[in-house]
Amino acid sequence: MAEMPIAPDLTPPGRAPAARWPLILETCGWKDYALLDMGRGRKLERYGRFTIIRPEPQAMGSPRLTPAAWDRADAVFTGDVEEEGPGRWRFSGSVPETWEMTYGPVRYLGRFMSFRHVGVFPEQAPHWDWVGDKIRIAAKARRERPVRVLNLFGYTGLASLLPAVAGAQVTHVDASKKAIAYARENQALSGLDELPVRWICEDASKFVAREVRRGNTYDGIILDPPKYGRGPKGEVWDLFTDLPEMLAMLRQLLSPDALFMILTAYAIRASFLSIHELMAETLAQQGGLLESGELVIREENGTRCLSTSLFSRWSGQ
Ligand SMILES: C[S@@+](CC[C@H](N)C(=O)[O-])C[C@H]1O[C@@H](n2cnc3c(N)ncnc32)[C@H](O)[C@@H]1O
Repeated sequence: MAEMPIAPDLTPPGRAPAARWPLILETCGWKDYALLDMGRGRKLERYGRFTIIRPEPQAMGSPRLTPAAWDRADAVFTGDVEEEGPGRWRFSGSVPETWEMTYGPVRYLGRFMSFRHVGVFPEQAPHWDWVGDKIRIAAKARRERPVRVLNLFGYTGLASLLPAVAGAQVTHVDASKKAIAYARENQALSGLDELPVRWICEDASKFVAREVRRGNTYDGIILDPPKYGRGPKGEVWDLFTDLPEMLAMLRQLLSPDALFMILTAYAIRASFLSIHELMAETLAQQGGLLESGELVIREENGTRCLSTSLFSRWSGQ
């Protein structure tokens, strides 16, 4: 019997996105954040009214401020053996459990978390602004239907609340109940309880697979996955093995007139080119512009920059 010919794919191929790299996106800090100094494997930062010292292997040069300026720090991340809670921090005086900070219209809490975080990643600020501008313009232009944004691995919610303020309907997904509770605290603190944000505690891959099956779409997608993570039911996330399939599913979630997709990666041994090429392959027929590079923080009163993460961002129009 003659073999059945494979039916030709008659869908017209879309354009590949134009590529721009390397692009360095820099934050110089704001009222509630500054990189004060760095060197000899450590960095000195100010989060609101507290100065903190954390290990930073990339700060290989010499500190520029005096030892006294470092000695005045309110908290030092020691990385002591204690597994959970603030045991990994050493404090110079009494510090509150939380303290308030602001980025534009959003107020958020600082908190000395295990694994050296304080609840916010300041290097993300250029993404928050870029996404906000895109949403504001689109929300004005297409009043008939809302701008829908999906934020995966959303943590304490700044990258969900800022798009919501800009006019988007946001779906925020994170595997950690604690992180979702923290994000909702930030929403309440900001007086933004009325904004349309859906908070979902679920494994990101499972959620996305279900959205694909349901045929749902989004106008903007933000994802900032860790290298390794766990879903609420122990589902394993491994960036190097799971990211390609995650992106392939996310491409199916992009609405026909989608605005953006932003991927950030941190704490991995890879070049921004590796995530650029993966995004380029995933979005091969989407047209638009794909820009990739690094997110860096510029020192306050200084000329030096500290690289924090890799990104690749696509804009549809
Ligand atoms: C460090 S955060 C990312 C930073 C965040 N996008 C921001 O800008 O604040 C990583 C988050 O991924 C979440 N996570 C880890 N594994 C996950 C999984 N399998 N599904 C969903 N979320 C996961 C963690 O709970 C954590 O909140």
